[in-house]
Amino acid sequence: MEEQQRTEELLQGQLELWHHALGYIKSMALKCAMDAGIPDAIARCGGGATLPELLAATGLPPCNLSYLRRLMRVLTVSGIFHHQRKQPASGEHEEEAVYALTRASSLLVRGEGNGGAPSFGQLPFISILLGRTFVTPFFGMHPWIADERAAATSFFEREHGQALWEMARTSTGINDEFNQGMTADTRLIMHAVLTLSPAVFEGLTSLVDVGGADGTAAAAVARAFPHINCTVLDLPHVIENAPAPDEAAGGNTVRFVAGDMFHHIPSAHAVLLKVVL
Ligand SMILES: C[S@@+](CC[C@H](N)C(=O)[O-])C[C@H]1O[C@@H](n2cnc3c(N)ncnc32)[C@H](O)[C@@H]1O
Repeated sequence: MEEQQRTEELLQGQLELWHHALGYIKSMALKCAMDAGIPDAIARCGGGATLPELLAATGLPPCNLSYLRRLMRVLTVSGIFHHQRKQPASGEHEEEAVYALTRASSLLVRGEGNGGAPSFGQLPFISILLGRTFVTPFFGMHPWIADERAAATSFFEREHGQALWEMARTSTGINDEFNQGMTADTRLIMHAVLTLSPAVFEGLTSLVDVGGADGTAAAAVARAFPHINCTVLDLPHVIENAPAPDEAAGGNTVRFVAGDMFHHIPSAHAVLLKVVL
C-alpha cells in the first residue's frame, strides 16, 4: 500500500511537471491561431465553423486538416475556442465539430466593434506578448539571475543589447507595433476604469498621464470629464507621432509634452501611470 501511494505521488509529480514544462504549447498554439487568422475566419463564417470551413476561410492547405484539428483541440481545452457538435446531415455518418468564439477569442477578431461600437480588439497587444522580441529574452533568465549585475540590466536588455524604449526609438517598426499594442490595451482598460470606477476622477481639474504614449487614456478621461485638463508626458520619439489634440480627445484638448519623467513631470492634481512602472 505504501509503495502504491508513493508511486501515485511520483506520477502526480511528473504530471505537474509536464503541465508546467509544456505550458508554452498553449501560448504558441494561440500565436499560430492568430497568425493563421482563425478568429477572423470563425467570425466571417457567422460565429461558428467546421474544420473544412476553417480550412477554406483561412486558406490553409486541405491536406493539413488533421493538424488543424489538433491545434483546435488544444485551443478548445484552453478556453480560446468553444466546441459544439453538429448533427450529421443525412447521408453523413459522423457528427461534425463546430468551433465558435469565446469571450477571449472574440477580442482577437480584427476590425471595428459591432454596429459602430468602439473596438476593444486585443490582437495588436497579444501579438507583441507572443512575438520573438518579447519571448526570446526568457531563454536568458538564468544567466541574468546568476549575474551579480542583474539589477543593472533587465534580461530583455541582455538579450537585445538595449532597453525596449531604446529599441522603439531606433526602429520605427517596433515603435509602431508597440504603440498599437499599448493603444489596444488602453482602450479596453480605460473603458473598464471609466465604467466601473468613475469616482476616481471626481473632483479633479487636471491630470497628467506619465508615459501616456499617444494619449488614448488621457483622451478617454477628457471625453468623460471635459472639465479635466489632461496632459500626456512621454519620450520625444513617442510625442513626435502623437495625434493632433482634437483627434486624441474627440474635441477636448489633450496637451502633449515631450520629456523624461525622471527629470520633470508637469504639475497636475493627479498623476496617471498605466503600465509604466
Ligand atoms: C508600456 S508603455 C505604456 C503606455 C501607456 N501608458 C499605456 O498603458 O498604453 C510605457 C510608456 O512609457 C514611456 N516611457 C518610458 N520611459 C519614459 C520616461 N523616462 N519618461 C517618460 N515616458 C517614458 C514609453 O515611451 C511608453 O510610451
